[in-house]
Amino acid sequence: MVIIIPLISTNKYIDCHSHILYGIDDGAPDIEHSVAILKKLVELGFEEVILTPHYINAFHVNNRVKRERYRILQERVIREQLPIQLHLANEVRITSDILRLIKEDEITLFSGYLFLELPFSARIHHLERKIYELQLENIKVILVHPERYHYLTKDDYQKLIDLDVMFQVNYGSIIGIYGSKSKKMVKYLLKNNFVSFIGTDIHRSDQFNVKQFAKIKSRVIKIIGEEKFQDISYNNMKKIIHHETW
Ligand SMILES: [Fe+2]
Repeated sequence: MVIIIPLISTNKYIDCHSHILYGIDDGAPDIEHSVAILKKLVELGFEEVILTPHYINAFHVNNRVKRERYRILQERVIREQLPIQLHLANEVRITSDILRLIKEDEITLFSGYLFLELPFSARIHHLERKIYELQLENIKVILVHPERYHYLTKDDYQKLIDLDVMFQVNYGSIIGIYGSKSKKMVKYLLKNNFVSFIGTDIHRSDQFNVKQFAKIKSRVIKIIGEEKFQDISYNNMKKIIHHETW
C-alpha cells in the first residue's frame, strides 16, 4: 500500500497586503468587487486580511471615508457569512509628511506599524534617516515588496534590516509576476532570512487561482521550509494583531 504524505500540510493564512477596500485606489472599484476578492481569499485559505489601500498622490482618501467603507464592507461580510476577518491599515508611499498625515487622521497605522512603500524607479535620498525619524515616534516600519525596488542593493537591504525595518514580500514575486529581477531578489531575501511577512498585494479577484497559489506556496517552502513559511504567512502577523512584543 502506498501512503501519500502531502507536501503541504498547513492551510491557513493571514494576508497583510491587499487592495480590497472599494473605491479608494486602483484595487476594487466597488463593493461587489471587494466581496469577490474576499471570496477568492477564503477559497485560497485566508482567514484574516489587512486592507491596505494606497495612500499616494493619485489616491489620498482620508480615514473618515476609509472607516465608513470598511464598516459597510464588514457588515456585508457578516451578512454573507464569509469566514474572513478584516482589519484596516494603509500602504503609504514615502513622503516627508508622514507624521503630519498621521496627526491629521489621513493615514492608518496597524497596531503601531506602518506599511511603507518606496518609489519604483528613483532612489529616495536619506531613506535611513527618514525611517529613523518615524521610529523615534514609536512607529515600526514594514517595507512592502522590497524585491520590487530594483535600485536597492544587497547592502541597502542589510542596512534596512539592521535598522529593524521588517520586510513584506509578495506571493506573486516568486513566480515572476513582477519580472525576473523581482523573482531573483525575492529568492535572495527569503534565503537570507530577511522576510517577516508574505502578502498577496491583491487588486482583482482573478489575480490568483488555487493551482497557481499552491505552486507559489510550494516554491516558497522549498526555499525556507514549512515552519518559516508558517511564520511569514500567518504567525508573525498574528503576533502583531494580538499586540505581542516582537
Ligand atoms: Fe500594494
